[in-house]
Amino acid sequence: MGSRLGRQLGEWYQGGAVAQSLADRIRMLILDGRLTVGERVPSERALATEVGRSRATVTKAYETLADAGYLARVHGSGTRVALPHRSATRVPAPSDDVIDLTIASVGSTPGLHAATVRALDRLASLLGTPGYSLDGLADLRERIAARYTQRGLPTDPSQIVVTSGAMHALTLITAAFGERGRAAIVEQPTFPHAMDALRRVGMRLVPTPVTPEGWDLAHLAGRIRETRPGIVYTIADLHNPTGATMPDLERAKLAATARSVGALVIVDETCVELDVDRGWTPHPFASHGPAISIGSMSKLAWGGLRIGWIRADAPHVERLLAVRPSFDLGSPLLEQCIATELLDDMDGLLAHTKRRLTAGRASVRAGLATHLPGVVMPEVPGGLAAWVDLGSPMSTNLSLAAREHGLLLPPGPRFTATGVLDRFARIPITWEPEVMDAAMERLGMAWRDLRAGSTPRAGAYEELAVV
Ligand SMILES: Cc1ncc(COP(=O)(O)O)c(C=O)c1O
Repeated sequence: MGSRLGRQLGEWYQGGAVAQSLADRIRMLILDGRLTVGERVPSERALATEVGRSRATVTKAYETLADAGYLARVHGSGTRVALPHRSATRVPAPSDDVIDLTIASVGSTPGLHAATVRALDRLASLLGTPGYSLDGLADLRERIAARYTQRGLPTDPSQIVVTSGAMHALTLITAAFGERGRAAIVEQPTFPHAMDALRRVGMRLVPTPVTPEGWDLAHLAGRIRETRPGIVYTIADLHNPTGATMPDLERAKLAATARSVGALVIVDETCVELDVDRGWTPHPFASHGPAISIGSMSKLAWGGLRIGWIRADAPHVERLLAVRPSFDLGSPLLEQCIATELLDDMDGLLAHTKRRLTAGRASVRAGLATHLPGVVMPEVPGGLAAWVDLGSPMSTNLSLAAREHGLLLPPGPRFTATGVLDRFARIPITWEPEVMDAAMERLGMAWRDLRAGSTPRAGAYEELAVV
């Protein structure tokens, strides 16, 4: 079975000194978040056996990493992952010329300025109150609940907790319902920060595959029955990064299987409104069985708004509100007022995202055909990104090569629990065509560098930290 580190190493030998290559790859795994700070690494002897190299090689690699601050030897408890003090980490200055495809989010909706102006009046009416809102403003919760009801899931405003974005919602949910050492099912690939939140509370991630064609329900149900997880985390609608949507029948089966083992289903609906031309719409997951749903204004209106929400039943809401004060005492009122104004024009929000995603998707398709011939773009009916098959395990090296051309692209394994899927890359369809055209041109240059046999230069792995 091997160690977590061993399983994530992949094709690590890049030529030259073997110990240096091994150290470089382990450092990249640490900086990329695939090995976490405090995690124990295998003994030198065990890793040497696992990678089929001499113990002296592993000793040298570990020494290099310890000298640079990436490993700490803790007397009596082995060697653990660490991070050097900040001053020792090279963080390149942000440059206007860098295109950052680590972010997949549509730019702000055109009505945002006007909504902000209107929100000031709304805020004025609240100035006599203490201003703390642990569960969120009633007007906003009403609008969020109404949208669920409109989508076919009758919802009372008391079932909504307004948060500061979907990521904050996930943090609250994992803090309230996570259990150290217990299994959590995650899709592979999935949204990386969700995995980080589950790991942070000590949950053991159990992956189940998703492709642009969808889920493997037999695998998913089997893993749930075998591991009896505390949590099943799913992005069932226009999944990030594959764009897949789970059909109603599969939702019903998943809900029933999770319920049979007492697992809590968390449905991340951050992308639910990003339908471009899917041609069908499933019922909200929570209409098929018990689930906590998460939503956000980030992809619908603007990431800078930092307003999201949780929809849950009364006992779960009660628990969430009990946990929340140790994190924060409510989301900012002005932002809540702006979100309230924006949700009054749902059609406007949807029209904007659809326009942007349609244009972004076309430029990714054209860019791939021109600059990365042979790389096929899957069907992308909406969502945030195209999950592109590169044809061979080269995503990490492509990310590194892309950096040399001023393009930040997270490697495919960043979207997995175990560091696999190096054959894939996530390319956002959210950017304006001008940005995307330039990005695809840079990606093409990186692609040609790799094809011509260039290997990452010294220090390149370290810079991947910024991704
Ligand atoms: C699936 C998913 N969940 C959560 C988030 C975080 O959203 P927010 O900006 O609302 O915190 C994102 C952002 O990309 C996402 O794709």
